[in-house]
Amino acid sequence: IAPIIDQAFEHKNLLAQDNIIWERKDGRKRTFLIRVAISLIGDDSMGAVITFDDITELESAQRKAAWGDVARRIAHEIKNPLTPIQLATERLKRKYEQKFEDKEDREIFQGCTETIIRHVSDIQNMVNEFSTFARMPSAKMSETDVEKICREVIVFYRQTYPDIKFSLENTSKAKYKLRADENLLHQAITNVVKNAIEAIQEANTEKPQIAILLQYSKKELVIKVLDNGPGLKPDMKEKVLEPYITTKEKGSGLGLAIVKRIIEEHKGSLDIEKSSLKKYQKFGFDKGVAFIIHLPNDSI
Ligand SMILES: Nc1ncnc2c1ncn2[C@@H]1O[C@H](COP(=O)(O)OP(=O)(O)OP(=O)(O)O)[C@@H](O)[C@H]1O
Ligand SMILES: [Mg+2]
Repeated sequence: IAPIIDQAFEHKNLLAQDNIIWERKDGRKRTFLIRVAISLIGDDSMGAVITFDDITELESAQRKAAWGDVARRIAHEIKNPLTPIQLATERLKRKYEQKFEDKEDREIFQGCTETIIRHVSDIQNMVNEFSTFARMPSAKMSETDVEKICREVIVFYRQTYPDIKFSLENTSKAKYKLRADENLLHQAITNVVKNAIEAIQEANTEKPQIAILLQYSKKELVIKVLDNGPGLKPDMKEKVLEPYITTKEKGSGLGLAIVKRIIEEHKGSLDIEKSSLKKYQKFGFDKGVAFIIHLPNDSI
């Protein structure tokens, strides 16, 4: 806070303020609004009054609201032209389909118009789902076996990517069920694992591997998703969790923002391992990236 105090004194501002992020020992962050007010008598300062406001909740609510707003607007703008595209294509199909003398021409025409109609309907479904999500339905909590969800995600991807070595490990002796929304957690873990796969593939990583480590404690369940891909550039670490940050040609940059939202709905947090992955050597990792999800055990 020294710079804020200096600023207040330097410019003889009566009030200087700034947000400061404090990281607690357990890695959780809280944001404080610090205000420094100086009392002046003539030109002499009498001293300063410093106030600390914990605005973590407020800030997160504001960010969520802004995010939801952007998402809804984009969904809306995408949806607008879809119905006309669909109707126009159906009309073309009805009107001209039978006019082709040549069988091959007719088949091409049918094939193409059907492709358009099918894909438009896919986009429509996707956008609908997306805008439902942006409206932030509250998570439907029930007793959930997170390990089972992780196993399902791994089994699914193992089939598709047999060259990648997938593993799942509970590094604690304990295991318990959490109150969580199974579908949302499934979506979150899938997004993180999908990113890991994409990173590995893009970099053509040798001996590619992805691991999910689960660590149950009394207080919380920590889920770590590790990959030995190229890792994140330092400047990316700061912002990958924000919406629309992507390095992929076809990426939306929403994957991790959605994960973060889901985890926050569960009163948990999503972080990126700051230090090197060397400490995961016993699991076979010395480079790459680890995404860390904390889910509080709210049954205690
Ligand atoms: N495991 C990882 N290794 C390296 N880079 C990663 C990893 N996970 C995410 N990133 C980086 O973070 C960016 C943001 O990821 P995010 O999931 O939010 O969006 P995306 O994957 O680009 O798009 P979408 O999820 O819509 O396909 C990615 O473009 C990539 O650059
Ligand atoms: Mg992604």
